Amino acid sequence: MSKAAMCKTLGALFPETKGMPRAEVLYDLAKEASDGAIVEIGTHHGFGAIALASGSRDGAGVPIYTVDPSEPAFIWTGHTMYGQGDRAVLLRNLLEANVTDLVRIVGLDARQAWAAFKEDDISLLFWDIGISLKKPGMKEAIDEWITKIRVGGILALGETFGGHLGTDDYIADLVKMGTYRQKNNRYAIRIAERI
Ligand SMILES: C[S@@+](CC[C@H](N)C(=O)[O-])C[C@H]1O[C@@H](n2cnc3c(N)ncnc32)[C@H](O)[C@@H]1O
Repeated sequence: MSKAAMCKTLGALFPETKGMPRAEVLYDLAKEASDGAIVEIGTHHGFGAIALASGSRDGAGVPIYTVDPSEPAFIWTGHTMYGQGDRAVLLRNLLEANVTDLVRIVGLDARQAWAAFKEDDISLLFWDIGISLKKPGMKEAIDEWITKIRVGGILALGETFGGHLGTDDYIADLVKMGTYRQKNNRYAIRIAERI
């Protein structure tokens, strides 16, 4: 599947989307993953998972584990969103996009799923749960995950265009600690590399 084919598929499944450049960033990052696992935290209806799987398909075929409990969550906009109904839409979308061979659905909260991965397993982690990292418990949750990213692996954080999710401060702290280096951010996705 080429990037153009991915955009066509996503355009058909998500006709209302304005986020195609975001899909292109995820496609590029996944295409560069040479082995290990790609993990997405926050699946919703599979837009990001399909983009990641498309890039991986055109790269090394690294599997995508996408983690989401599909339970109501209180997000940065001040609304409660999501629920079990999302899973049915997700399954349909993955089938339509023909990526079920690459995408593994993990129906758990981020903090529960973390234990299933070994240190150094992850070549690309895409964190995209729509909740600020400054909220209680969020920093602790992501801190656990980033220990599973291998040296040279990529941390990508979904952010809003208004920077509501606290990702810049989070990456700045990692850079200060000397564990990650900042890469060029693309289309509201904050990107850092483990060193
Ligand atoms: C912004 S949406 C994800 C969008 C998706 N990555 C995409 O590209 O279309 C946020 C998702 O994060 C999920 N979520 C919220 N809290 C979570 C948590 N603690 N662990 C895992 N997923 C969570 C929600 O259920 C929701 O489906």
